[in-house]
Amino acid sequence: MLRVGPSAWLACLVATTWSCGGDDRSASSGVSSGSGGSTSADFCDALAVLEAKCQRCHQDPTVNNAPFALLSYADTQVERSSGDRVYEDMLHAVETGFMPPTAGAYTPPVEPLTCGEKATLLDWLKAGAPRPAGNDPSCEDHEPILLECPR
Ligand code: HEC
Repeated sequence: MLRVGPSAWLACLVATTWSCGGDDRSASSGVSSGSGGSTSADFCDALAVLEAKCQRCHQDPTVNNAPFALLSYADTQVERSSGDRVYEDMLHAVETGFMPPTAGAYTPPVEPLTCGEKATLLDWLKAGAPRPAGNDPSCEDHEPILLECPR
């Protein structure tokens, strides 16, 4: 089985996509094997989702009137004028489906989170957006995992 290297992550993506619509538990159980059986997501796993689905707007400088960048661990910890931390608003925005803004008239159209991406992002956010394991927010040498979709 190809369980190491970039191909493993690709396999995870495919397995996660399948498990969203189907009943294939054996496929989705491969999802977490990429990082040695982890069942929770850390910042670096969440960052891969931000890169794929959020940073086209939440850039520095921001695009499409997004209110702040979501490029780094520090960006997620900033206190907003409301008193909320950015990660608290991320949790609310993703849970409610406010973000990503799939109903907006953007070109190209905004893609929704896959259920694996959503599970991964929410897992890290609900844990209080902790620093990554090993305390290296650059996420170099980190092979991101996607969590299994909730069933
Ligand atoms: C197509 C551009 C675009 C994408 C993609 C996008 N956002 Fe946004 N985001 C915006 C805009 C524009 C706003 C301001 C919306 C408003 O205040 O009405 C916003 C606001 C937010 C807010 C602040 C909400 C609040 O409570 O004030 C958060 C948090 C957020 N986005 C997180 C995310 C996350 C996480 C993703 C990826 C899963 C994402 N966004 C993807 C454009 C985008």
